[in-house]
Amino acid sequence: MQFANDLERKAFDKLVKNLPTLIEQKCHGHDELYGHKLLPGEYYEETIAHALVYKFCKAYKFEYEAAASALCSTLNWRKEFDPLSAAFSERHDETLTKIGVLTKYPEEQANRKVVTWNLYGTLAKQTHVFKDINKFLRYRIGLMERSIGLLDFDDESNNYVAQVHDYDGVSMWRMDPQIKKCTKQVIAVFQEHYPELLSAKFFINVPSLLTWVYDVVMKFVSEDTRKKFVVLNDGTKLGQYLPSAPSILYGGKSKETLQAQNVLEVRPTDYTLHLFQQKVSADVE
Ligand code: HEM
Repeated sequence: MQFANDLERKAFDKLVKNLPTLIEQKCHGHDELYGHKLLPGEYYEETIAHALVYKFCKAYKFEYEAAASALCSTLNWRKEFDPLSAAFSERHDETLTKIGVLTKYPEEQANRKVVTWNLYGTLAKQTHVFKDINKFLRYRIGLMERSIGLLDFDDESNNYVAQVHDYDGVSMWRMDPQIKKCTKQVIAVFQEHYPELLSAKFFINVPSLLTWVYDVVMKFVSEDTRKKFVVLNDGTKLGQYLPSAPSILYGGKSKETLQAQNVLEVRPTDYTLHLFQQKVSADVE
């Protein structure tokens, strides 16, 4: 964790100190973030809890009130939405699970070691999956949580994910309203509840004729996030940015296909398993 000056350090220390009261009084006691426990006790790991609090401080430029309020809003949202359930216990539409891939590249440059691939191009003709926004959201947030499960918050070279959107096969002259709605919602949730977790986002196989879609979607995206975007018309150029990607289709150095690289099993944290157990016990009673 790096602080540019004393004021930043003070804002961070204040948030850590006030966390027990904030969580109790304003977050309905929900002390779980991305599967980790934020308050001391069993399952608590101080370095991880601090790394997560730091992310909120950094995202809100170390302004205490803004960071505290954003963190509370995220904890309340998590209590309600239950993203861990979306990640580890729910079943999603197979059409969707087929187009979401997670890869882990230990040799890749800092913070590009975990990559989420969204092969959205293949959904261009399967728009039924966007009809129920909540279903789509639960799938996409589940994938986000599982990608976070592959990070290591004790390692500053692996505490952000990179994402790829492959739009191969997309051709459209107007944006399907349901796709637009889903896109808008996912972007909003990521911006509010997953700060400082994205290192870079690559949009590949984007036909030149569709750069207008980029302009439409950009209206929902914050300035800071925009800076992380790279648009590539030719998908095989991705290897220049992610050398561990498959050579086939993506121009990387790996002889494996993307499907062979797909990490299918992500282990939930011990705290997540404990929370699941608690829920089961409460349901039985
Ligand atoms: C974000 C789907 C076409 C640019 C998204 C998101 C979805 C989505 C669901 C939400 C963020 C996420 O899942 O990570 C689709 C589908 C498309 C399509 C189904 C067509 C079938 C395009 C095209 C472009 C584009 C042609 C042009 C480059 C973007 C941008 C974002 C985005 C810039 C914002 C990403 C972010 O804030 O993280 N898209 N998209 N999309 N899409 Fe697309």
